[in-house]
Amino acid sequence: MTDLTSLEAELTGAVASAADLPALDAVRVGALGKTGSISNMLKSLGSMSPDERKTAGPAINGLRDRVGALIADRKAALEASALEGQLAAERLDLTLPAAPRRKGSVHPTMQVFDELTAIFAEMGFAVAEGPDIEDDFHNFTALNFPPKHPAREMHDTFFFNPDAETGERMLLRTHTSPVQVRTILSQKPPIRIVAPGRTYRKDSDQTHTPMFHQIEGLVIDRDIHMGHLKWTLETLIGRFFETDAVTSRFRPHHFPFTEPSAEMDIQCDRSGGELKIGQGSDWLEILGCGMVHPNVLRACGVDPDEYQGFAFGLGVDRLAMLKYGVPDLRDMFASDTRWLAHYGFSPFVAPNPASGLS
Ligand code: PHE
Repeated sequence: MTDLTSLEAELTGAVASAADLPALDAVRVGALGKTGSISNMLKSLGSMSPDERKTAGPAINGLRDRVGALIADRKAALEASALEGQLAAERLDLTLPAAPRRKGSVHPTMQVFDELTAIFAEMGFAVAEGPDIEDDFHNFTALNFPPKHPAREMHDTFFFNPDAETGERMLLRTHTSPVQVRTILSQKPPIRIVAPGRTYRKDSDQTHTPMFHQIEGLVIDRDIHMGHLKWTLETLIGRFFETDAVTSRFRPHHFPFTEPSAEMDIQCDRSGGELKIGQGSDWLEILGCGMVHPNVLRACGVDPDEYQGFAFGLGVDRLAMLKYGVPDLRDMFASDTRWLAHYGFSPFVAPNPASGLS
């Protein structure tokens, strides 16, 4: 019996000191495996006399059960601590900032769209949209461009090939003004909308690109006059630049779809390859505007003796250039990620006039 007692002590020690699951399994095989120490003892029961077996049988079986239970307990404990170790090793701190190299950013033009629509939303304007591919009616005819009038060429329009049956040419809209037409045709006054979108003209230099962005504004109601237009645009510029120090001027102009018409410029300085506002002797034209021409209202079924309106079309990329100091418009659409990393904005900050725009 003493060798049973010492075997039990030895196995108990081995189980307790098994440092991991493979070590514990080695102990199990050594004791309870096919040729393990306890298994061999069980096999020897067959060659014992009935008397010997009476005492040895329960003793060896008891030992087997106790050692088996010890191994099972130790196994459960080792598995639990292995899981804990794995959880600790794979721990992830979700509050860590994202890897900087993979950070995306918002293009200044899109940032300015968001800033402008936030300001206009506060003034009570809704957002309207129209297609980039337009027809002659919405881009020109309904906007009081006479047929064959040189003003149609003035816009350096991108035309599609004429339709084989009708001969009609679709075009890439040269301004967002066709959204005025679509809006007046589909809504009843009072109307107060802004329409952000892409526009296209055959043009490319420091302040022109073949694709650019405008935001159109349209207000139609009774008793609307030029004073409303001027207040809206001057207030907009003050809020957009978040300072009163930006000087603007209105110049008389001509558009077929407004009467009277004007253009608005912002004072700036372009010396030394930099663009600065609030100083300098240069002016950058940023928008065209005016009172909606009675012919436009008539073309859309609104009586000009009852309703008037004002409209404006604002160059969004140019506003972005002025506010964020981008000297060349063409860089904005060069798809250079280094440029975007420098001029881009965090996607997590939505512009809000109350808390600051940018
Ligand atoms: N559509 C004009 C342009 O692109 C701008 C404009 C819009 C002028 C609305 C007057 C009124 O040049």
